[in-house]
Amino acid sequence: MSKEEWVASRDTSREMSQESSFETSCESSLEISHESPFEISHETSHATTHELSDATTHERSRETTRERSHERSHEQSPASSRKRSQSPTRVRRQGMFRVLEKRLYHEQLFALTLTYPPSMDAIMDALQPGAFVHILPSPSESRQLFLRRPLSIAGLDREKRTVLLIVRVVGQGTEQLREVQPGTVLDVYVPYTHGFPIHNVKNGARALLVGGGVGVAPLLWLAETLHAQGARVTALIGFRESRDVFGLRTFEQWGDVHLVTEDGLSGKPGRVTEYVRDFSYDVLLSCGPEPMLKALAHITAGDSRPHYASLEARMACASGVCRACVVAVRSDVHADTGHHMVSTDDAARIQHRRVCHDGPVFSLSELVWRAP
Ligand SMILES: Cc1cc2nc3c(=O)[nH]c(=O)nc-3n(C[C@H](O)[C@H](O)[C@H](O)COP(=O)(O)OP(=O)(O)OC[C@H]3O[C@@H](n4cnc5c(N)ncnc54)[C@H](O)[C@@H]3O)c2cc1C
Ligand code: FES
Repeated sequence: MSKEEWVASRDTSREMSQESSFETSCESSLEISHESPFEISHETSHATTHELSDATTHERSRETTRERSHERSHEQSPASSRKRSQSPTRVRRQGMFRVLEKRLYHEQLFALTLTYPPSMDAIMDALQPGAFVHILPSPSESRQLFLRRPLSIAGLDREKRTVLLIVRVVGQGTEQLREVQPGTVLDVYVPYTHGFPIHNVKNGARALLVGGGVGVAPLLWLAETLHAQGARVTALIGFRESRDVFGLRTFEQWGDVHLVTEDGLSGKPGRVTEYVRDFSYDVLLSCGPEPMLKALAHITAGDSRPHYASLEARMACASGVCRACVVAVRSDVHADTGHHMVSTDDAARIQHRRVCHDGPVFSLSELVWRAP
């Protein structure tokens, strides 16, 4: 059995042994050493009635966790720097999330609001914009698909314990997810990822957020977070068709928003990358399809300001083990600043990074793009 198969079968057998009940589910928690990602141990822990009902104790520990995670986000080396500081160990990463609301924009695009159990507070508190969930698209009682699907967190309300996902239907998994109804319980794994390096965006800094298509989703939470820490947020978002447009009102709450559509029916006509040069900024943060990110990398090449991109990749384990999601990066580029440490291309050495574990956010200038 290959390593990938082993990981997947281990995952499935663990899930099969779970109870599907939301409140009393007996979930396993993965304890992962980020220093040696191949060492994974399982720990079965039971969410007891006492644990769920002792609200006072829970709220106190929730505050402590939040303070710790706040400290961690400030102390932490930048999102894409390769050395992790203390990641939460013995933290439950998998839980049953209940669908609260589904909103269909059209047949191929929808939003889901899910609520998570208190047992997931520690991991959810530690997440930063750019984080994603790894979700089994079909309800727990009718598991049809073997592999989970990665979806960015578009909004996180820690008080209400809700996450917002915005999903584009492209295949079987996202199609199944579109069929879920409020009340459905979904099995969700939450990887501990390197999100956007928000601690590098100083108070008053001009942050340009560039998004394309469903890649706009993680920028919604990012805009809110950057605004809260005093950055001046401008969102430049592009969609292929006007009917795909989402998030305008949310961005308007946190800063300026500029819309571009390829069909030209809303906003300016064309592609977002055609307008990037019209904006002044101190830091650029982006998410979108590969051609968009590639064009951005081309436009910003040689620019010493920091530029970041959140990548999509096909994933299997989303915990750094199977290497299904690797991308090539230049080892002579400083992962945080994007500055070249050696001056010639010849000296560049190519390394591989796992999008699920080392990303999904990378410095734009460190990425090595495949030839078309
Ligand atoms: C970190 C991360 C965050 C993501 N966030 C979102 C999000 O917020 N909303 C959203 O709608 N999608 C997001 N995606 C993409 C989403 O995971 C895929 O569209 C989904 O897994 C496809 O599953 P499927 O079973 O519907 O399609 P499949 O049947 O698996 O594939 C259908 C088609 O989509 C392509 N495809 C599948 N997965 C990917 C992928 N990961 N990247 C590029 N092409 C793919 C396949 O090549 C194929 O052509 C994200 C991906 C990653 C890695
Ligand atoms: S999906 Fe397995 S290492 Fe990233």
